[in-house]
Amino acid sequence: MQVFYDKQSFSNYIIRQKKENKIIGFAPTMGALHAGHISLYQEARQENDIVVSSIFVNPTQFNNLEDLEKYPRTVEDDIKKLETSKLVDAVYIPKVEDIYPNGMKKKHYDFGGIENEMEGAARPGHFDGVGTVVEELFLQVEPDNAYFGEKDFQQLKIIEKLVDILNLNIKIHGVKIHREESGLAMSSRNMRLSDTEKKASSVIYKTLKKVNDWFRVVSIPEIKKRVEEIFQQNEMKLEYFLIADEGTLKEVDFFSKDKSYRAFIVVNVGKVRLIDNMHLE
Ligand code: PAF
Repeated sequence: MQVFYDKQSFSNYIIRQKKENKIIGFAPTMGALHAGHISLYQEARQENDIVVSSIFVNPTQFNNLEDLEKYPRTVEDDIKKLETSKLVDAVYIPKVEDIYPNGMKKKHYDFGGIENEMEGAARPGHFDGVGTVVEELFLQVEPDNAYFGEKDFQQLKIIEKLVDILNLNIKIHGVKIHREESGLAMSSRNMRLSDTEKKASSVIYKTLKKVNDWFRVVSIPEIKKRVEEIFQQNEMKLEYFLIADEGTLKEVDFFSKDKSYRAFIVVNVGKVRLIDNMHLE
């Protein structure tokens, strides 16, 4: 596996791959790699000639300085994990100025409204930051396929829109949520949980499974009430729980016949913000 720490050498690598007509699969990350990331590479490996990943903790998508500072940075470990996985051909670890040559400014995008729902409302400007970094990475990596986890389902939809808006010829692939044995969705943030907190956090997935059992049987206001009750009995703080139309990501308060729905949840466990979601069927 080749490791690139600057834009110039990475760009030369991409030029060589393009000359050889290699199909490029790309999975961008912010590092602190876990089995969820590995599942992105596994999928990419099957569909591309070369698999590229990036590690870059993007400052413009954090709206909370403490969250940015506390975000785990484990680059050496990450490189070892990538080597061991044998799934990735090249990893790009750019410097801030490789991504933001004109200062750390984020662009403003109109994603058709989905940017204002859920995480967009909770973290103003977050998706402009994600759009800015992913646009720049797409321009530098020039992938044919790009892979994003469904854990950040709203982000996945934003990236699909981004590619549309920019008219880029990149196929976006959503990869199923990878879970710990307890059901807790894999996330780099899980590293910041104590063992007790980690154990307790399995209630998030258990709750989503209950919600799925109640789908089309119990009314949405009643489902919300039950979920709020579950979290009242827990140390964890429910930030939001809602059921949204999977296409518009708008919250709904009743189920229509021919639409598909997804439940979204955000819970604060100590100082760690955990997000999860589940397609309802
Ligand atoms: O999902 C992430 O890790 C990040 O939001 C991404 C897509 C790498 C952009 O910084």
